Amino acid sequence: MYNNVTVFDHPLIQHKLSILRNKETSSKDFRALVSEIATLMCYEATRELPLEAVEVETPICKTTVKHICGKKLAVVPILRAGLGMVDGITSLVPSCRIGHIGLYRDEETLKPVEYYCKLPKDIGERDVFVVDPMLATGGSGIDAVSQIKLRKPRSIRFMCIIAAPEGIEAFTKAHPDVHVYCAALDEKLNENGYIVPGLGDAGDRIFGTK
Ligand code: PRP
Ligand code: URA
Repeated sequence: MYNNVTVFDHPLIQHKLSILRNKETSSKDFRALVSEIATLMCYEATRELPLEAVEVETPICKTTVKHICGKKLAVVPILRAGLGMVDGITSLVPSCRIGHIGLYRDEETLKPVEYYCKLPKDIGERDVFVVDPMLATGGSGIDAVSQIKLRKPRSIRFMCIIAAPEGIEAFTKAHPDVHVYCAALDEKLNENGYIVPGLGDAGDRIFGTK
């Protein structure tokens, strides 16, 4: 349907997501699952990263091997809920740099309000993964990516766990050059801007604030 949107249908991701959606899942398990899903999604989403040939000397002989080109990755979680995905990614890419963008949705207007932005100095030489479990109206993701684009990174990808069709439509229109990875494309948004069926408020469930 969209050539720059990938929905990961890996059974492990789908199984973990089924537990995440359950309202009876505890905050402790929710946090662990968000992190595990982020690891699995990161493994899949990094498949396209360009490799280059380098020489190493094994204990036996010199040989040519492949490694990821250049300065590698930066992960930028959208606060708060995006923080829940960071550990899962750094478990696979321990040397990545981490930026932070603080945005919250105004409850009335549903428009994102930015309150913090700190990005790695050398982001211009990095491939960036912007992470947030939820892409609902798309406002937060669109704004975060616009902020990061000002710093001209090598590339940007957006990784969320659940996306709404409305969010995908708005995001791909605003940033057609940014690939979106998700674990589920849900049915719709409700009148309060929550994803249906979704999983509720991701930040509250990760941090146990409700
Ligand atoms: C949630 C979520 C996204 C945003 C998605 O954050 O983590 O950032 O909503 O909605 P949108 O696509 O309509 O912008 P929230 O604003 O609840 O802030 P929080 O993470 O601090 O709880
Ligand atoms: N933010 C959330 O945390 N959940 C939704 O369903 C929508 C926005």
